[in-house]
Amino acid sequence: MNNYEILINKNNFITEDQIPKNLTSVGPNLFPTEGLLSSSVIELEEIAATNFKNMINEANKCFESEIIPDSGYRSIARQKEILEFYLQPSQRGDNAYNLVAPPGASEHHTGLAIDIALLKNGKYTDDITGEEPELKWLFKNCYRFGFILRYPKGKEDITGYSYEPWHFRYVGLDAAKIISENNITLEEYHELLNSKNYKKTL
Ligand code: DAL
Ligand code: ZN
Repeated sequence: MNNYEILINKNNFITEDQIPKNLTSVGPNLFPTEGLLSSSVIELEEIAATNFKNMINEANKCFESEIIPDSGYRSIARQKEILEFYLQPSQRGDNAYNLVAPPGASEHHTGLAIDIALLKNGKYTDDITGEEPELKWLFKNCYRFGFILRYPKGKEDITGYSYEPWHFRYVGLDAAKIISENNITLEEYHELLNSKNYKKTL
């Protein structure tokens, strides 16, 4: 397993060495004042950043609207700020735990996860359902750039989160291909890696 395949979830918190040192900008943060700890640019680990930029450049040639980065690397403090915002009764209340990872357990801390939004006729929207043609393109093609849809529909019991059609995770080309071909989650991929049967076939 390489570092790009690391599993971060409610049972696997990050360790110090999983915080990236080579963060690279993938675009401006359109809402830098949203939250005290929000940053002015959106960043990813550099290999993930290159692949992400290639992916959206190719996708954006196919559509009139533009896929843009919405949230990339987050510090643990920033994750705490986001969770506290969504926990407010006027926001999602306790349902926030199905949408926002506990601080220290978000794969956004690794710089390998990216949320996307759309610019439609120049107008920003993060109201993503997964039915948009741009999103369907990403679902079909993201593995070619080493990305997977991390929280798919129907796998909520395994991932621990609601369907998030906007959240993609860089895992590298090999893992993305296997995960996509087998229609599995990163959790199931790790089970596969740990299973004796799989090792025999390597
Ligand atoms: N929305 C995902 C689960 C996160 O907060 O990392
Ligand atoms: Zn996300």
